[in-house]
Amino acid sequence: MPLTRKAYRAAILHSIADPAEVGIEASYEYFEDGLLVVDNGQISALGHASELLASLPADIEITHYQDALITPGFIDTHIHLPQTGMVGAYGEQLLDWLNTYTFPCESQFTDQAHAEEVAGIFIKELLRNGTTTALVFGSVHPQSVNAFFEAAQKLDLRMIAGKVMMDRNAPDYLTDTAESSYLESKALIERWHGKGRLHYAVTPRFAPTSTPEQLTLAGQLLGEYPDLYMQTHISENLQEVEWVKELFPERKGYLDVYDHYQLLGERSVFAHGVHLCDDECARLAQTGSAVAFCPTSNLFLGSGLFNLPMAEKHKLNVGLGTDVGGGTSFSLLQTLNEAYKVMQLQGARLSPFKSLYLATLGGARALRLEERIGTLQPGTDADFLVLDYNATPLLSYRLKQSKSIAETLFVLMTLGDDRTVAQTYAAGNLVHQR
Ligand code: GUN
Ligand code: ZN
Repeated sequence: MPLTRKAYRAAILHSIADPAEVGIEASYEYFEDGLLVVDNGQISALGHASELLASLPADIEITHYQDALITPGFIDTHIHLPQTGMVGAYGEQLLDWLNTYTFPCESQFTDQAHAEEVAGIFIKELLRNGTTTALVFGSVHPQSVNAFFEAAQKLDLRMIAGKVMMDRNAPDYLTDTAESSYLESKALIERWHGKGRLHYAVTPRFAPTSTPEQLTLAGQLLGEYPDLYMQTHISENLQEVEWVKELFPERKGYLDVYDHYQLLGERSVFAHGVHLCDDECARLAQTGSAVAFCPTSNLFLGSGLFNLPMAEKHKLNVGLGTDVGGGTSFSLLQTLNEAYKVMQLQGARLSPFKSLYLATLGGARALRLEERIGTLQPGTDADFLVLDYNATPLLSYRLKQSKSIAETLFVLMTLGDDRTVAQTYAAGNLVHQR
């Protein structure tokens, strides 16, 4: 294959470590006039333009982005494809919201054409918002996952998804059985897991909608294939937590249900965790599991405030989730805007560099993909963004007052959204141009 080499010149910023572990200054690299070199879909060099340019052939194609910041692509560790059409549903908290809005909306995915249409809209929306990798819930219907992976494969995106398993406490029109969920998940794994940049996630919706038999088979699937993911919800809402205690009185608590069925591990991502206790955080960390922090959803559904400092204390891997459609935006910038406020309400701070970490390298670590995505280190996939300092008149004016990259970054996360993402690149290909 002939070498296709391209270079991108702009201000460049990426996280290289968790600020909670190394301090803020050692957590990032910033090149005010930087150069990113991409060879055949992978990053081959990153550095100061003045230094790198001298080492490159004179005829190399260089794209120069002015008034712009290159960052790694954003990573959304929790989102629901079949809820794209119901973002912003009024008036309910989790359990009523599921019954009133979510289940009817997800039922439309029996229709293959609908699944394909929404998968197209969903992927476009991810890329418009700068999200290059997401851990995605499908509906209970395998066609939702097939449609998603087919669309993702065409663009060579790194994506993870799974069909929802749910065999009780949901309408008949939307339930599978323990056995059918096992067989359908297995067929999807055989078809998609490890194909190019695609990965499969075993996806029991949450403890209340799975029988013990189904949870047992979910655990069994994880043992049958290497490197499978597991995604579910945990301790999002107080009524939900009480319900789980009633349904599983023999277990110590919510997490212990999943633990009992062998669903914890290095590729397991638990969404929300708003009401986790100290011991549960410790057990999640001990098993290498991760939590998806979903601030827009937690505020919108009135679920509560995620305790990020407690997770940090336990060295628990945390990624950021939009949780569309419980969450209200596909934008991880807007998600960080709300994350900051969630910390403020708890008397804590969220530094812009910790925020950048959560949206990139932290997400990659939660997904055990830090060797491939989440930074701009040479040798990793060329999934990156160009953020436009002049995206809106207010952003443009505000950033002219900025005195540091910390301030610029914080303002991008406070005022920024999809309009801020001028270009999105995946595996070196331009997959979104504003
Ligand atoms: N818990 C179980 N299902 C869901 C869902 O679809 N969204 C959210 N936010 N929580 C859930
Ligand atoms: Zn969710």
